[in-house]
Amino acid sequence: MQKLLLKNIKQLISIYEVAPEKLSGAQMKKLPCIDNAWLAAEDGLIVDFGTMDTFEGITDWKNLEIIDCENKIVMPCFADSHTHIVYSGNREQEFVDRINGLTYEEIAGRGGGILNSANKLRETSEDDLFEQSKQRLYEIILQGTGAVEIKSGYGLNLYSELKMLRVIKRLKDLNWIPVKATFLGAHAIPTEFKENKKGYIDLIINEMIPAISQEKLADFLDVFCEKNYFTSLETKQILEAGKKYGLIGKVHAEQLSHTNGIKTAIECEAISVDHLEFCNDNDIELLKNSATMPTILPGAAFFLGLPLPPARKMIDEGLAVAFASDYNPGSSPTGNMKLMLSMACIQYKLTPEEALNATTINSSYAMGLQNKVGTITNGKLANLIITKPINSYGFLPYAFGSNLIDTIILRGKIFN
Ligand code: NIG
Ligand code: FE
Repeated sequence: MQKLLLKNIKQLISIYEVAPEKLSGAQMKKLPCIDNAWLAAEDGLIVDFGTMDTFEGITDWKNLEIIDCENKIVMPCFADSHTHIVYSGNREQEFVDRINGLTYEEIAGRGGGILNSANKLRETSEDDLFEQSKQRLYEIILQGTGAVEIKSGYGLNLYSELKMLRVIKRLKDLNWIPVKATFLGAHAIPTEFKENKKGYIDLIINEMIPAISQEKLADFLDVFCEKNYFTSLETKQILEAGKKYGLIGKVHAEQLSHTNGIKTAIECEAISVDHLEFCNDNDIELLKNSATMPTILPGAAFFLGLPLPPARKMIDEGLAVAFASDYNPGSSPTGNMKLMLSMACIQYKLTPEEALNATTINSSYAMGLQNKVGTITNGKLANLIITKPINSYGFLPYAFGSNLIDTIILRGKIFN
């Protein structure tokens, strides 16, 4: 029985006796905390917490590791509900091409972009891909991520999509942090189907989805609903096909233009709808009557110089909002969730409380992990960040370039 006690915690944040599923609108401003706190974990789970003033000790002190957290803050790890960390190589050259004036769309139009990553991935062995991706998983954990969603979508044929999803499975089986897998075959139209998009959609629906379900390799199904990619009608067709196999939808929507992705995602009861740069007032109204989590990816909007999604307005209108990293080689080559936290405050005008909720509890909801992670609640995984000595949690988004993480705890054990 592995036990852990964190004591003298300056501030323990996001504590709930009973955790909410998600926080919406004005609820996002609240971040329940205890000053001068302790927390105990056993067998990987949070089992108790409280204030040091009333700490009565632990009944069984055998096999107990004690960490003194004086002047340090303890919070639930970040939950990153949107990543593409399984990829091969990088797209540094396209970064320079964009600096020199080409747009993301122009690069994609020349066969670069997602298709560039697809070419690289197809030539990479499963083992090599696993090693490259494992490094990135390790990197983001040390940056504070304690649960992650990972997408396929650079294979674009049955063999290579399966290869990606098997790599995601191997990352899951490392048992470092909870991993949710998303099948994103509908990420782009592969070159061999350039003149036959319908043929590719048929392949996704009739061969890829059944094969992936057979191997139980995916929790979610995602579509890039965008001009030159998949229309809202095609998105619907693919999501409905996935539903028959128990795959829950997610949608990349309104990123480069408005194409009714949000409306379609809601109609298909998607768990989240992500990007949202071109989200309009009508979409906000539609989201109000749905359980779909609008998810902002500030890294991609920043890296591509896109208009900012209306996160502030969404919260003011009463919606829940999540923030995630979108870690991928083309539009957000970082998975640093603390940076996303800062961007949420600096660029999107969320308060530190709102931004912390958006990157923990709400992003957990966006991948169906709200009962496992995202708050300090008994029975949830003890996946925790212990900060360096700081005055208050507001310093985390404020000091946007500083690494303020001292220790990462995963399942009640120090991770390094
Ligand atoms: O989330 N928008 C589509 N997909 C990714 C970009 C993928 C890429 O460029 O490789 C995104 O931004
Ligand atoms: Fe993405």
